[in-house]
Amino acid sequence: MPNNFSNFHLVENPLIKRDITYLRDSETKEYQFRLALRRIAYCLVTEISKTFPLSKREVITPLETTYGYRLKQQIILVPVLRAGLSFVNSFVEMIPEAKVGHIGLRRDEKTLQPIEYYYKTPKNLEISKVIILDPMLATGGSASAACSFLKERGANDITLSCLIAAPEGVKKMEHDHSNVAVYSASLDRELNENGYILPGLGDAGDRTFGTL
Ligand code: PRP
Ligand code: URA
Repeated sequence: MPNNFSNFHLVENPLIKRDITYLRDSETKEYQFRLALRRIAYCLVTEISKTFPLSKREVITPLETTYGYRLKQQIILVPVLRAGLSFVNSFVEMIPEAKVGHIGLRRDEKTLQPIEYYYKTPKNLEISKVIILDPMLATGGSASAACSFLKERGANDITLSCLIAAPEGVKKMEHDHSNVAVYSASLDRELNENGYILPGLGDAGDRTFGTL
């Protein structure tokens, strides 16, 4: 699938390709599904962290004083409930300094617009690097709404980390939030009439938490 999107970064390697195959497989059990998601999340955080600014700091080794680095900016991870929770452990292991907020979204049955049912984020949103965690970027309605809700509260440096993106969702993000970089481990073909990603993996939340 060619990537002609300006805000989209495809994170690829052979281990990710193998794990996405496990995730797509309808025979994959929940515990294998969660482990594969965790492994891919390590690859995503490694790639996204290449953009993190550093500041120098002195460090005293057992032999001498030298210079090393610390992260310059506070990182705030914001999983979108529920499926985004599956990325949190890997991201926090790799960025132990990170703080974690949460956004809960559901669709209004009449308007189909995403409604925020839960919101809690740490302080200093406006000077932090905010990383939204949500495995599926389908229509883009949830991700776009999450960005808007965070911007309303002051966030101005936002990255979206997902697992599988549909072209429709990437386009919506490009249109609604052109200053938000989107990282994904796969760019799939299209959406079906129910808004599911094809070939996709089905409902990420249900497959992670066993609520099928
Ligand atoms: C999934 C996924 C995204 C959303 C993507 O959540 O985790 O948040 O769908 O779809 P969209 O791009 O069309 O908005 P879902 O609504 O299934 O909730 P869940 O995580 O609680 O299962
Ligand atoms: N949400 C999911 O979990 N899967 C899809 O394919 C689309 C939205």
